[in-house]
Amino acid sequence: MNAGIIGVGKYNPEKVLTNADFEKMMDTSDEWIRTRTGIEERRIAADDMETSDMAYEAAVKAVKHAGISAEELDLILVATVTPDQPFPTVSNMLQDRLGAKKAAAMDISAACSGFMYGLATAKQFIETKTYKYVLIVGVEKLSKITNWEDRSTAVLFGDGAGAAVVGPVSEGRGILAFELGSDGSGGKYLYEDKSGHLVMNGREVFKFAVRQMGESSVRVIEKAGVRKEDIDFLIPHQANIRIMESARERLGLPVEKMSKTIHKYGNTSAASIPISLVDELEEGKIKEDDLILMVGFGGGLTWGAVLIRWGR
Ligand code: UT7
Repeated sequence: MNAGIIGVGKYNPEKVLTNADFEKMMDTSDEWIRTRTGIEERRIAADDMETSDMAYEAAVKAVKHAGISAEELDLILVATVTPDQPFPTVSNMLQDRLGAKKAAAMDISAACSGFMYGLATAKQFIETKTYKYVLIVGVEKLSKITNWEDRSTAVLFGDGAGAAVVGPVSEGRGILAFELGSDGSGGKYLYEDKSGHLVMNGREVFKFAVRQMGESSVRVIEKAGVRKEDIDFLIPHQANIRIMESARERLGLPVEKMSKTIHKYGNTSAASIPISLVDELEEGKIKEDDLILMVGFGGGLTWGAVLIRWGR
């Protein structure tokens, strides 16, 4: 029994905040933001659009795309560090709104790596035949913890949601291998402070990210018994184009084999990989039987890499 992604969906808020908008708000420039991060604009959720609302929009699409009904879901996992409130969780709220009557629900708190943690968790339940269908949503309303006075972080983040239904797929397809990790000693480099603001030591996170993205990609490829050259498409966490490029170069992949959505959405944390997945599928860049490597890192510090043979 193999577990794989059988349906996807996403939600991007309508409101666009461009680099030019930031030039009016603080001492920064479009040139600095573009060259240092690759970001051109990001989406910001309306005040009355909660994390659970974005999760719902993405989830409905993913369930429909999978061709199942919400009542068939066995488990709902929501990866977020910006839940509506500490509890009830976003996954509880989603379970009710979707009418997923038999589903268990829990949130996963692993910052930007949360969607990778979700995929690895879903795989366990499905491959042991405990559950058949697991919904995972990566969703963030980072705008509510952004310190709008801090130019070194405010320009980086965006809001949004990406969802996937994981279920049984045919032999040879689905999640072939994964790696999850944590280094809590680096927690001080990226956290939410007592006033509810995101605080980051960009340089330290940058160094960690470059090392970790490369190393965990190589390890997950070895675990699956494939070669770097076999990778058809790389979906890195969209945090900084320079970090993404270093991972791509380490794997020896050409530019067209890496997902790049950071210019449109900024860093949407747990939502960045599933949103990118949806965009790339819509653009026809991912085909049946392609070998897809997803790799992320983030606060915790945490990381995760997942290798998938695409198709049902
Ligand atoms: O998913 C969460 C994980 N987070 C990340 O992946 C973030 C990883 N880190 C990064 O992406 C980069 O470190 C940043 C984009 C955050 C910063 O880039 P950097 O090349 O590491 O710049 P820096 O922090 O070393 O700052 C360079 C200069 C500083 O000025 P001085 O001290 O050299 O005069 C900053 O004050 O850039 C200045 N600066 C800005 N200037 C214009 C910082 N933010 C801005 C800004 N506009 N928005």
